[in-house]
Amino acid sequence: MVPSVCGIFGCLCDDAPRVLIEGLKRLEYRGYDSVGIALIGSGGIKVIKEKGRIDDFAAGLPNSALAGKVGLGHTRWATHGAPCRENAHPHTDCSGRIAVVHNGVIENFMELKEGLVKRGHVFSSRTDTEVIPHLMEEGIRQGLGLKEAAVSASRRIKGSMAVAAISASEPDRIVCIRRESPLIIGIGYNGVYCSSDIPALLPYTNEVIVVPEETVVVMRRDGISMETLGGSPLEPKPTKIDWDMGMAMKGGYPHFMMKEISEQPLALSNTLKIQRAFLERAAELIGGKAYLTGSGTSYHACLTASYLFSKIAKADIRAVHSSEFQDAVADLKGSTVIGVSQSGETADTLSALKYAKMMGARVVGITNTLGSSITTSSDIYICTQSGPEIGVAATKTFLTQLAALDQLVFAHALARGAISKEEYAGATAQLERLPAAVQSVVDRVGDLKGVAMKYSRRKDAYFLARGINVATALEGALKLKEISYMHAEGYPAGESKHGPISLVEEGFLCVFVAPSDSARGRVIGNMMEMKARGAEIFSIITNGDRELIAISDEYFEVPEVPEYAYPIVCTIPLQAFAYFVAVARGYDPDRPRNLAKSVTVL
Ligand code: AGP
Repeated sequence: MVPSVCGIFGCLCDDAPRVLIEGLKRLEYRGYDSVGIALIGSGGIKVIKEKGRIDDFAAGLPNSALAGKVGLGHTRWATHGAPCRENAHPHTDCSGRIAVVHNGVIENFMELKEGLVKRGHVFSSRTDTEVIPHLMEEGIRQGLGLKEAAVSASRRIKGSMAVAAISASEPDRIVCIRRESPLIIGIGYNGVYCSSDIPALLPYTNEVIVVPEETVVVMRRDGISMETLGGSPLEPKPTKIDWDMGMAMKGGYPHFMMKEISEQPLALSNTLKIQRAFLERAAELIGGKAYLTGSGTSYHACLTASYLFSKIAKADIRAVHSSEFQDAVADLKGSTVIGVSQSGETADTLSALKYAKMMGARVVGITNTLGSSITTSSDIYICTQSGPEIGVAATKTFLTQLAALDQLVFAHALARGAISKEEYAGATAQLERLPAAVQSVVDRVGDLKGVAMKYSRRKDAYFLARGINVATALEGALKLKEISYMHAEGYPAGESKHGPISLVEEGFLCVFVAPSDSARGRVIGNMMEMKARGAEIFSIITNGDRELIAISDEYFEVPEVPEYAYPIVCTIPLQAFAYFVAVARGYDPDRPRNLAKSVTVL
């Protein structure tokens, strides 16, 4: 299963309003900052939507809303446009006779919106989604039916989409389109349903149809028809689901953490769709002196970016722990501080940014949570597109922080003339190939179960690397200790001979991040030093590296990628290794002791 950033639900059944609310409640873990429903009634389409949680929304529904047999619902995790009533879905066209819910990221929404506004369309939100009903409205005005208008609109849209649409002119159907974002259909005894995820369908059926890529579905009360966006008919293939609700919420995985590790390809793909305008404005803001600050995993993202700003943009931008920021940084006047926080609520990071602004700095925020405190304390912010992360241990949010920072590094390098336009275009093309590389790693993380079992009873571990993968090693150590409670330390491999090596004795576990990058040769030297003292070597290596295969006791191969992208592909096996060790030691990786998902105290 792949995720996306919101939850959509649709139904053709008796008592549609209640069914919509129940469906959205089961999808709430996918996004919960605003919610809405649309129902077809005798007077056309009624849309009710609010900022806030579903329970509060349901409690406030007027009785007049509680009627209808065809409807759509949406629970939002804001990606474009702050969480508020106007930006909540469903969105409608100018006439209010078309309503749409959407899950995904529309890359070219600004140019589409400009064209639609020029042609007289009036928008009521700041979302990317709202271009869809207006594009469909134009198709219907030209004589297209609802399905044809939806297909026509999808052809003009670049980006990921799971869309469900209804029209007052065709009140007996729901039309859905799937591109990248997940869409599932359920046909029950008393109705036909569509959903972003399986949990919402289980009360009505345990036979579901996973809508294929690039497909349009017409749902009617008596069944569905499916065809490719090119018009070729498709035969629905039902799948029997034997999950309970808990498993279903986790996409069939035993824990949210493994589900979220598996979601990284699409989370990365969506994060690579960040509007270039935002990146360029943020890059320009990073004028002279600049700093990076974050906590925990977010600090590791900052440290990775610090190496990349130096190597690619030839800019010295120091990474500073948020909790140390006020003591570690003296002169902030006229500088820029890049604050990284997936929750956007970490007190240490907010405090560092508040201090920076007070001392005359500008702030660029990078967060996964639109509407969070960091977005209000930043001069400009960039939103990663992971969707909500339920597991306490950061996985997909770390990977998308790296992706956002990679893009910022290249935009800054271009802005300061460190790379040419051609090199920038080349890097952008390379980044677009990364989701496939990440998928090839995610598909094989199960191979780490054996290694994790083998080392699960160890008391200590070093995580070692050089160059841009030092932060990857620190992050791997953090993952292992925070969910398995095994003591683990991350170090620059070159540092190990300045003291840490004294701990190494027969069987001591050393995890090396050793891909085929410019530091590989020097890392091998450190590996041999450890091996000479009896250490056991578990290494993350580039496919087919025979020399390292020969040296390592255990290894995991990642595909060859540009050097700056190795932190992205190498962090995944370390996440999975920590996960399997925690499970082998009998702990719940989703709820590690002593930790909170967001540390809102100093
Ligand atoms: C990461 O696995 C930890 N849960 C923790 O270190 C986290 O990264 C840190 O608390 C920062 O959180 P933030 O990204 O929400 O600011």
